[in-house]
Amino acid sequence: MLEFRLMKKEDVPCVARMEEEYFSEPWSVKAFEDALDKKEYLYMVAVERQEVVAYCGMYQVLDEGNITQVAVRSDMRGRGIARKLLQDFMQKGQEKGVGAYTLEVRVSNQGAVRAYEACGFVTECVRKDFYASPREDAFIMWKR
Ligand SMILES: CC(C)(COP(=O)(O)OP(=O)(O)OC[C@H]1O[C@@H](n2cnc3c(N)ncnc32)[C@H](O)[C@@H]1OP(=O)(O)O)[C@@H](O)C(=O)NCCC(=O)NCCS
Repeated sequence: MLEFRLMKKEDVPCVARMEEEYFSEPWSVKAFEDALDKKEYLYMVAVERQEVVAYCGMYQVLDEGNITQVAVRSDMRGRGIARKLLQDFMQKGQEKGVGAYTLEVRVSNQGAVRAYEACGFVTECVRKDFYASPREDAFIMWKR
């Protein structure tokens, strides 16, 4: 059974391995550990059979939540995990006073764009050459 809960320090090695695999500019173990120590950051994981299968995070500026990562383990995709995790996560964010969420996504990452749209995000603009290695534009999406 799938469980959603706040990320703990002991989840970080597993999360950082997924991060390394799925992102071109991955956060390090230290970056996650530092974020977990700060109250403006919120990180959650999805756990199945005691294994972390997905994670997402954000930092909060006033009433805005800037989503930093969303990832689901590759063998667990297409089962609605990202959608459920984000729903739970945004509920928690709302309790911390977040009224709107924003994120960037590579324009070629159509799967993620679809997933965010399914969660109510709308593309508001394109940021040219936002990403390095490979260089690519970003869609800036918002859920207001
Ligand atoms: C993007 C990602 C988080 C989606 O996770 P997921 O658990 O497979 O997504 P879900 O099963 O919850 O799907 C949510 C919705 O998005 C759609 N979707 C998800 N992946 C899709 C894909 N590759 N192509 C088309 N639609 C997709 C689903 O059909 C679903 O829509 P619906 O609810 O209307 O049926 C996952 O593919 C991933 O971890 N990718 C690598 C990391 C990444 O790119 N993160 C985003 C960086 S900004």
